[in-house]
Amino acid sequence: MYKIFLNEDEMPRQWYNLAADLPSPMLPPLGPDGNPVGPDQLAPVFPMNLIEQEVSQERWIDIPEPVLELLYRWRPTPLQRAVHLERYLGTPAKIYFKNESVSPAGSHKPNTAVAQAWYNKQFGIKKLTTETGAGQWGSALSFACSLVGLECKVFMVRISFDQKPFRKVMMQTWGGQCVPSPSTETQAGRDVLAKNPDTPGSLGIAISEAVEAAVTDTTGQTRYALGSVLNHVMLHQTIIGLEAKKQLEKAGVKKVDTVIGCAGGGSNFAGISFPFVNDKIHGAKIEIIPVEPASCPTLTKAPFVYDHGDIAKMTPLLPMHSLGHSFVPEPIHAGGLRYHGMAPLVSQAVVEGLLSPMAIQQMECYKAAMIFAQTEGIIVAPETSHAIAATIRKALEAKEEGKERVILFNLSGHGLMDLAGYDKYMQGLLVDHAMHQDEVDAALKEISHHPVAAKNRTGKW
Ligand SMILES: Cc1ncc(COP(=O)(O)O)c(C=O)c1O
Repeated sequence: MYKIFLNEDEMPRQWYNLAADLPSPMLPPLGPDGNPVGPDQLAPVFPMNLIEQEVSQERWIDIPEPVLELLYRWRPTPLQRAVHLERYLGTPAKIYFKNESVSPAGSHKPNTAVAQAWYNKQFGIKKLTTETGAGQWGSALSFACSLVGLECKVFMVRISFDQKPFRKVMMQTWGGQCVPSPSTETQAGRDVLAKNPDTPGSLGIAISEAVEAAVTDTTGQTRYALGSVLNHVMLHQTIIGLEAKKQLEKAGVKKVDTVIGCAGGGSNFAGISFPFVNDKIHGAKIEIIPVEPASCPTLTKAPFVYDHGDIAKMTPLLPMHSLGHSFVPEPIHAGGLRYHGMAPLVSQAVVEGLLSPMAIQQMECYKAAMIFAQTEGIIVAPETSHAIAATIRKALEAKEEGKERVILFNLSGHGLMDLAGYDKYMQGLLVDHAMHQDEVDAALKEISHHPVAAKNRTGKW
């Protein structure tokens, strides 16, 4: 079977919450005074129905029927077997991928965008603000807002705004408004521009702008939506892995050996992997790999620490692997992976020893993406190419060992809006960049006074 489909009535009816199963309880977010942040303090930023999901310890959370109706526009997504890639590599491994590129916006992001837009609408909100790195999340939220009838304003990281001009047109087509970040519209943006007028921008800066734009709306009818990192975003994305499990069962696959996803803020990785992390907690032998760029090595080089999600410290301190909230990563083409932090749930799963993070350089990723395009046909997003590079490494390892392993990876998005990066790669204009330990240490200096998250738990830092 090359493609395994589910009918709409076979789609999961509940999201899976990993917080219920992690061996140790999640650490709470902290306010500026060092005390845990309660739901009421988050209320100016998010609607209460999503805050309830953010702090929930319930293992299973029902997907409301109207959200299922929104998801049916493109879900269930196919599970595909990459037989042509397998043949090209001459590997005995069986490679499956979940194809999230079939959504209208071209990635996994609409899975949470439609849910967040619906919950905000239910709460009486009129407008959402957000940031976007690669442009995928901004497109997804603009699309979702158009479905439920909300206004949408997107602050797009400047380097991606310049690299991917058609993303803005997509957002506008769905009725969203898109401005490059840093912008002069917010205090946070003006502060950054005053210090560094030529900055390529970063997700940390764009988040500050979007949160500021939401909380300064005096009508009280604007809220902020985040495309990754937070618990409720991970939750909404678990539909990917839950569908994949059903599809693998249909294909007669009894055991998955390796699960792979690229990781920026952690959401598509969480989506494909968390149902398998649950199996691992309960004794299954599975290797689960989040893959990040070597130029932004959050999980492989940065400590588990309390840090802000944004440069202007608008967000609470979150327990996460972080390179420091004002770290501006190299302007690599995988814009969605240029984030200084990582989802607390993913971070904690790493600390618990449930995940095996990997960092890969940009050139190996583009090479993998070219091979994938020329075998399976799909031109993937530069972010997704990290998952493919790791998959190829694992498939070649299986070949060397002569083992028939089952590898599952998440094809988080297509790259049809990212062709400038492919063009540069083919012209030989791209170079590798890895962060050295002294650069990591320098980036971490500014947060050395933050409360440590892992020291008391693992003694690691
Ligand atoms: C196609 C694609 N994959 C992956 C990511 C990384 O985000 P996350 O780690 O939240 O899945 C992005 C973010 O923009 C993306 O657009």
